[in-house]
Amino acid sequence: MTEAFQPLLLRALAGETLPRPPIWFMRQAGRCLPEYRELRSRAKDFISFCHDPEMAAEATLQPMRRFAFDAAIVFADILLIPRALGQEVWFEAGEGPRLGPLPEIERLAGEVEASTGRLSAIGETLSRVRAELEPERALIGFAGGPWTVATYMIEGRGSDRTGARTFAYEHAEKVDRLLDVLVDSTARYLVMQAKAGAQALKIFESWAEGLAEDMFERLVIGPHKAIVEKVRAAGVTTPFIGFPRGAGALVENYAAKVPVEAVALDTQAPFALGRKLQAQGKTVQGALDNLLLRAGGPALDARVEAYLEAWGQGPYIFNLGHGILPDTPIEHIAHVVERVTRS
Ligand code: CP3
Repeated sequence: MTEAFQPLLLRALAGETLPRPPIWFMRQAGRCLPEYRELRSRAKDFISFCHDPEMAAEATLQPMRRFAFDAAIVFADILLIPRALGQEVWFEAGEGPRLGPLPEIERLAGEVEASTGRLSAIGETLSRVRAELEPERALIGFAGGPWTVATYMIEGRGSDRTGARTFAYEHAEKVDRLLDVLVDSTARYLVMQAKAGAQALKIFESWAEGLAEDMFERLVIGPHKAIVEKVRAAGVTTPFIGFPRGAGALVENYAAKVPVEAVALDTQAPFALGRKLQAQGKTVQGALDNLLLRAGGPALDARVEAYLEAWGQGPYIFNLGHGILPDTPIEHIAHVVERVTRS
C-alpha cells in the first residue's frame, strides 16, 4: 500500500502524530440512524441480522455514507461468541441480551474449534465491506473482552456484575478455565476477521470496572495479553486497540503489560494520563462523553477543542468514551466529525 493510501487510522495506530486525528465513533452503526432502524425492522431478530452478511454490511456502511468517518466497524456483537460455543443467546426487545444456563465449561471447550466456522458470516461481512469501502477509510474488526463476555455468560443478562465477581471469587478455577476457553475462541475469531479484511482489531472490555488490582490482572490483563500473543503467533500483524472501560487508575498497568498498539480511554480519563501513555509509545483513543455528544452546544464544542489540544500532539484517534446513545441528534455527530476532519 502506498503512503498516500495508507488510511489515517492505520497511520495513527502505527504511532504517527498526524495533522489531524482520525475519527470514528463507537456504535456509529445503530439506532441513532433512521436508515438503521428501517433495516433493523426488516430483520427477523438481532442475532440473524448479525449473521446476514448482506444486511450487516449495509448496517456497517450506513454511517460511512452519512458522515466523513475515517473508519468503519463491522456490524456484529460481542455475544456472538458464547452463542457459537453453544450457549443460548437472544435479545429481548427494549431490554437487552438474555442467555440460557451456562453449559459445563468442558463442553464449551470442546466447541472452540467449531466456533470459528459458526462465525464465518462475520468474515463474509468484513470482505464485503472491505471491497466497497474507499481505500483511505479503514475497517475495524472486534470481539468482547473475555471477562465482559463471561459476565453475561455467568449472569445470563446485563447486570451490575456483582454476581459474576462473586462467582469469580467462589469458583476461581471454573472462571479461569472459562476465560481460557474464551481467550482461545476469541483469538481464533480475530485471526479469521483479520484474514477476511479487518485492518485493526478492538477488544471491548466494557465491564473492566470495580475490579481489585489482583482481580484486574487475573481477569483482564492476563486474558488480553494471551489473545494478542495468540493472534501474533498465528502470523497476524494487524494492530490492536484495547478498551478496558472503567479501569481507572489500573489503565497504566494495562498499557504497560498488554502489547496493544492503542488504548481506548473512557470518559473519566484525565488528559495527563493520555499524554503519559502517548509518551510511552501507545496511541490513545477516546474519550468524549456520549452524554455531552447528545447534549450538544457550546460545552460540546469546548470539550472537542480540549481533546484536540490535549492529545493532538501525540498519536491520537478521536472517539467517544462509550457508544453513541440511540437518541443522539444526528446533527451533533455531523458537527463533531466536521470539526475534527478540518482541524
Ligand atoms: O457500531 C458499532 O459500534 C458496531 C456494532 C456493535 C454492536 N455491539 C451492535 C449492537 C458493537 C461494537 C457492539 C459491542 C457490544 N455489544 C458491547 C461492548 C461495547 C459497549 O457498548 O459496551 C456490549 C456490552 C454488547 C452487548 C449488547 N449488545 C448489549 C448489552 C445490547 C443491548 C443494549 C442495546 O444497546 O440495545 C446489544 C445490542 C446491540 N448491539 C445493538 C446494536 C446496534 C442494538 C440492538 C438492536 O438494534 O435492536
